[in-house]
Amino acid sequence: MTFGDNFVFGCATSAFQIEGGIRNDWSTWADAGRLKNPDERPGLAVDHWNRWRDDFALLSELGVDAYRFSIEWARVEPEPGRFNEGALAQYRDMLDELRARSIEPFVTFHHFTHPPWFHQLCPWHRLETRPWDRFGAFVQACLRIFEDRVRFFTVLNEPNVWLSGSYVSGKIPPGQCSLRGACRAAEALVRAHVAARNAIKEAIRAAQVVIAHNQILIAPAGPGAGDAIVQRYVDRHFNYAFLDALHTGELALGMLPGLRYRAQIDGAEGSLDFIGMNYYFRAFMQLGLQGPQLFVEDRSQQGISELGWEIYPQGFGYFLRRLAHYGRPIYVTENGMSDARDERRPQFLHDHLQEILRARADGVDVRGYFHWSLLDNFEWLEGMEPSFGLYEVDRDSLRRRPRASAQLYRRIIEQRKLGERPEAPAPERPRRRPVG
Ligand code: BGC
Repeated sequence: MTFGDNFVFGCATSAFQIEGGIRNDWSTWADAGRLKNPDERPGLAVDHWNRWRDDFALLSELGVDAYRFSIEWARVEPEPGRFNEGALAQYRDMLDELRARSIEPFVTFHHFTHPPWFHQLCPWHRLETRPWDRFGAFVQACLRIFEDRVRFFTVLNEPNVWLSGSYVSGKIPPGQCSLRGACRAAEALVRAHVAARNAIKEAIRAAQVVIAHNQILIAPAGPGAGDAIVQRYVDRHFNYAFLDALHTGELALGMLPGLRYRAQIDGAEGSLDFIGMNYYFRAFMQLGLQGPQLFVEDRSQQGISELGWEIYPQGFGYFLRRLAHYGRPIYVTENGMSDARDERRPQFLHDHLQEILRARADGVDVRGYFHWSLLDNFEWLEGMEPSFGLYEVDRDSLRRRPRASAQLYRRIIEQRKLGERPEAPAPERPRRRPVG
């Protein structure tokens, strides 16, 4: 089985995680000591803002067909309505350089971060402030510069992950714990997708516009009815609420009568040109109280990647088939693992790509795969410690060095097929069998 010449191989990154020198809501959060390791600061990240030409040479070294990256809103619009032409010009140069290298850019506009002024002026949950208009204006400003340089847009990155942290657990900015606020913010994000999509389609008729959506395989932690209900609730909201809204035009949240949130959103119906799917792991849920939520993640028997994420490629194959029901082609917009010593990543890469080949053999229209990530980077609450890069970045010198996985990925891209399955050490803890 081969991938064929038209399959798109790529890498993905996001601006705040690599560029460095950005002042946004997240850097403010870090300055307030609210990361897991309060001594960590995003600071220079890996200084991609100054080293992008060299980093793009790494993309060519890998031989990728495409590169997914994001535009930092705070850099482009540091104050409301004031656009930084210098920053836009640099992003335009980056796009030109990618084109010169025959690498197709996939651009993301919202990858978890906001300008420092945003949450005061028009936070996502305050619908009367129409935050989507502000976001739409930022997208417009970018389009003015990008013209016909980009055809693929992932407007929002993982709105489901972002909302779980920002409005449910409250662990990330703006740090709210309110289910009502989460529902409203979800509606505003759908509206933001529509506003951006309309602006993009008007400027670039052939554009393909989507969101990158995170899928987690949710399993019940135990055999009891409570865990089964929690599993259904989390699975439905986390894995499908946004995708359904952008498919049918209706955002439907909450399962109990009286606690439902429904919004019909003009322009949302059929608003995904393809499915952008991010997949990392399986998680086990159990009944329990945490903030406003009635479920907690049971991590007692996990722990295979450095972040305690279970490697579970079957879940990846499951979602490829499941999301095919939306009737759109699929691009895997992120998949990867933190593995500083690169002991398991080669096998991880092989096994996940194998799932793509199997799904394609079953008739699923999977058109591309973006590995997360090109470089080690700033991993949100965890700081600089996790190592998702095909290229390792030395924390002091910031020197880039290819890991063995980079060589493997290059070979796969070149040959358009998988070779022998790489070896990996046995899991330290037994894998847990799914319940039900
Ligand atoms: C996010 C990335 C993040 C990666 C690994 C994804 O959910 O889009 O920004 O670095 O997961 O945690």
